[in-house]
Amino acid sequence: MIVANWKMNGSKASIHDWINTVSKCIKPNPKVPCVFCPPSLYIDFSRKLIDDLSSEIKLGSQLVNAEDGTALTGGLNSLMLSDFSTDYVLIGHSEQRTFFNEQANQTSNKMQNSIDAGLSIIFCIGEPLDVQKQNGTNNFLATQLEILKGLNLDNVTIAYEPVWAIGTGLNAERRYIEEVHQFIKDYCATDLNLKENISVVYGGSVKLDNAEEILSSSHVDGLLIGGASLNPDNFSNIYNLS
Ligand code: PGA
Repeated sequence: MIVANWKMNGSKASIHDWINTVSKCIKPNPKVPCVFCPPSLYIDFSRKLIDDLSSEIKLGSQLVNAEDGTALTGGLNSLMLSDFSTDYVLIGHSEQRTFFNEQANQTSNKMQNSIDAGLSIIFCIGEPLDVQKQNGTNNFLATQLEILKGLNLDNVTIAYEPVWAIGTGLNAERRYIEEVHQFIKDYCATDLNLKENISVVYGGSVKLDNAEEILSSSHVDGLLIGGASLNPDNFSNIYNLS
């Protein structure tokens, strides 16, 4: 899976250009979904463009809110995303955890509601710099993975994004990525009793220059790309490496 996470970027014009260009330039591989996550306001606009072009691009939301029965002005729930034929949703992104103070019980609530609404989930995990420096990565990730216990994980992909690599230009090194992805897969198989090998994609300062090396690393099943996904030619070139 190769995912474009546009964060708070874009306009109708740039989304139109991106969907047109990427639809033309990628060589679609049915085993490698190409997922576009625009800002939520543009979900419907993007859906229509993708459908009009009969494009292979799948649509993802960057946002879903936890539903605990209380009124939530500005909220967006999983049924609304499903109503607009959204295929994927990003849950647990470090920017949501940091800036919106998202707690594990909210992450878990979002996961359950999204599974119930038939959405496929990209579940983001990753350690901050101080944890990495103290060799605490595995314990930190194990705690984040705990919320997967008891969920039906057929449609869940894990995105490993070290917080210190997001938007910094400093991607994690190949050996580190391989070790961490292996740990995540082993932990899911042994501690969470997953039947099948779960897919784990890498995110954090992926760009055209480093994408091939990261993609060829063992245990890496795809990429989650922020800044470098904004340019449709760059993104298509990265997709075509997969
Ligand atoms: P980046 O962002 O590629 O700009 O580092 C990745 C992400 O936040 O998903």
